[in-house]
Amino acid sequence: MLEDLLALQQRLLAAIAEAGSDDDLEQVRLSCLGRKGELTQILRSLGTLAPEQRKQAGEQANRTRETLQRALDERVLTLKQAALADRVVREQLDVTLPGRHRAAGAVHPITRAIAEIGTFFQGMGFIAATGPEVESDWYNFEALNLPPNHPAREMQDTFYLPETAAGERLLLRTHTSPVQIHVMEQQTPPLRVIAPGRVFRCDSDLTHTPMFHQVEGFMVDETVHFGHLKGLLAAFLRHFFARELPVRFRPSFFPFTEPSAEVDMGCLFCQGKGCRVCKGSGWLEVLGCGMIHPAVLGHVGIDRERYSGFAFGMGVERLAMLKYGIGDLRTFFDNDVRFLQRYGAAVMGDGR
Ligand code: DAH
Repeated sequence: MLEDLLALQQRLLAAIAEAGSDDDLEQVRLSCLGRKGELTQILRSLGTLAPEQRKQAGEQANRTRETLQRALDERVLTLKQAALADRVVREQLDVTLPGRHRAAGAVHPITRAIAEIGTFFQGMGFIAATGPEVESDWYNFEALNLPPNHPAREMQDTFYLPETAAGERLLLRTHTSPVQIHVMEQQTPPLRVIAPGRVFRCDSDLTHTPMFHQVEGFMVDETVHFGHLKGLLAAFLRHFFARELPVRFRPSFFPFTEPSAEVDMGCLFCQGKGCRVCKGSGWLEVLGCGMIHPAVLGHVGIDRERYSGFAFGMGVERLAMLKYGIGDLRTFFDNDVRFLQRYGAAVMGDGR
């Protein structure tokens, strides 16, 4: 009996030492100390022994039970510590690693320039308007006093749509000036309006894309004169480029304005000394403008004796290129994300 107990003890100690998990250990425990465990059986059978043997065997059985119990407890602890040590290694966290970068979106420089232009004119009491990109000949040309033989109407400049059943040929607007007509048809003076939007011309090379953007602006009231136009546009350019630029008005021609002018500002890159960007002239041409032609006011039924107005139009890409230092017009529309990262404005707040 005593030998049996010692043999059992040895066997179970070995099993405990080998147990690699809590489950293994529980199996060993049940096999010896459980209700049907080997030791439990032996303890139960002690009653069948002679008194002298029973005492000896009972003492040894108790020692064996204590020994096994202690071994089990120790093994539990050892396994726990091993598991912890393992986790520490496995779940190591390098707090010096760089954080994960989440790329933020950016506002396209065209959107940004239109917003900056709009901010200035809204501060001057102008409201924003839009018009359709598909126009009739009337809105894009005729109402703006562009005679039928004007070169801007020729096929190579204008994208025409297929003739409609009614024989009308719609077109993609070649400028934002038709918005003047839409607004003046629908509203009565006093008017102060800016109209940003896409325009289209059948033209594609280094400095021309078939689609580009303009901002149109105009004002109609009883006492509007050229001095207002000069003051407004000079203030705009100085605000937009954030510096005290020289600005000059050069006589020019547009069918929808009389008199007409082109606006130059001192070259941003050479301070008037002459460089590659201004082609040596010291001036950059940035705007077209003039006093709205009486024929245009007549077309929309505005009293030409009572009211006068000025209008201006600017190319957004050109202004954006000058302001943000963008060298190639075509990169605006390549959709290369690196362009946005370089020239885009950070999205503020919730991105609206
Ligand atoms: N529509 C002209 C263009 O596309 C720009 C322009 C010039 C607009 C003079 C105007 C203006 O309103 O008064 O070239």
